[in-house]
Amino acid sequence: LVSVAILGATGAVGQELLHLLDRRGWQISELQALASERSAGRTISFRDRTLAVQVASESSFEGIDVAFFSAGASRSRQFAAVALSSGAWVVDNSSAFRVDSAVPLVVPEVNGDAIGAGPRLIANPNCTATILCMAVAPLRALGRIERLVVSTYQSASGAGWQAMQELRDQTRDVLEGRPASPRVMPHTYAFNLFSHNSPVNDQGYNEEEWKVMYETRRILDMPDLRVGVTCVRVPVLRAHSESVTVEFSGEAPAEEDVRDALRRFPGVRLVDDRAANVFPMPLCAAHQDDVLVGRIRRDVSHPSAIAMFVVGDQLRKGAALNAVQIAERALGSC
Ligand SMILES: NC(=O)c1ccc[n+]([C@@H]2O[C@H](COP(=O)([O-])OP(=O)(O)OC[C@H]3O[C@@H](n4cnc5c(N)ncnc54)[C@H](OP(=O)(O)O)[C@@H]3O)[C@@H](O)[C@H]2O)c1
Repeated sequence: LVSVAILGATGAVGQELLHLLDRRGWQISELQALASERSAGRTISFRDRTLAVQVASESSFEGIDVAFFSAGASRSRQFAAVALSSGAWVVDNSSAFRVDSAVPLVVPEVNGDAIGAGPRLIANPNCTATILCMAVAPLRALGRIERLVVSTYQSASGAGWQAMQELRDQTRDVLEGRPASPRVMPHTYAFNLFSHNSPVNDQGYNEEEWKVMYETRRILDMPDLRVGVTCVRVPVLRAHSESVTVEFSGEAPAEEDVRDALRRFPGVRLVDDRAANVFPMPLCAAHQDDVLVGRIRRDVSHPSAIAMFVVGDQLRKGAALNAVQIAERALGSC
């Protein structure tokens, strides 16, 4: 039996965590559903139980074996030390500890061995980086990868439940002839797309792009990998898509070897039917565990490059599923 706390239980990731703990058959003795004062008095259901949402406090983690943090970086910084000192494993979905070299940054299929060797605090990577690493890691066996060029098509759910609601509301407004009024996102979201809504630095890269570049190198343990990323929000409710060009140091591997490597990798599903023109789509990846990869082709513009299209549900593998897999591995390592 495991005692569990979810900090951010009312959020998009928190709700997905609850769903997965149920579906994966976790035997849970105690479940703390934690959120802010805004949610005080709310209830949420888990299996046949109705749980009162508690306002997170320092005492929330006493007796907890696994704490999932999913309430933003400030809350993670506030509560990590107290949860760790209560003896809990902490799996943090925020960006608070991802650049701390003492804290493992883990996608279990790629670098799961990092769990157990270090602290009981594990950082869950950025959703776009996780999905990218799932598609690139299998190709490392086919040659030395020198460079990745990535363009993303990111869904509303990556920005939480309020952004999903905004996309639904705006779509209805526009269809019914009313003006779209952005509240959560900086621009009109319905029937539009825009550069990722995170701050842009002096070099012209936004924060999401930097996270993907930095975290991908760290997860793949390839510090010299050259990575260029353009992150864009598209009006899709759930699941991020990524156009990825992988440049090898010599000639690109054969397409069929790429397909074989992807087929064999746990957590990846090949969707690559040229005859039927069927390739990965967000509607097919939504609510699915697997990361879908397809459109495998040698890049006609570069003899060393393979192009592919990758789609994953960022609330699943990009967040909650990866966090639960980390926790399962951590508990198994005790
Ligand atoms: N969405 C994704 O795909 C994704 C992927 C990877 C990582 N993440 C990260 O996961 C975290 C949660 O994201 P989300 O998409 O689930 O956001 P969300 O839907 O907006 O949910 C945020 C959650 O945090 C709680 N919270 C906010 N302020 C709090 C406070 N002061 N004290 C306690 N709880 C507080 C909220 O509780 P109330 O209901 O009380 O407001 C809610 O449960 C973020 O750090 C995000 O960067 C998200």
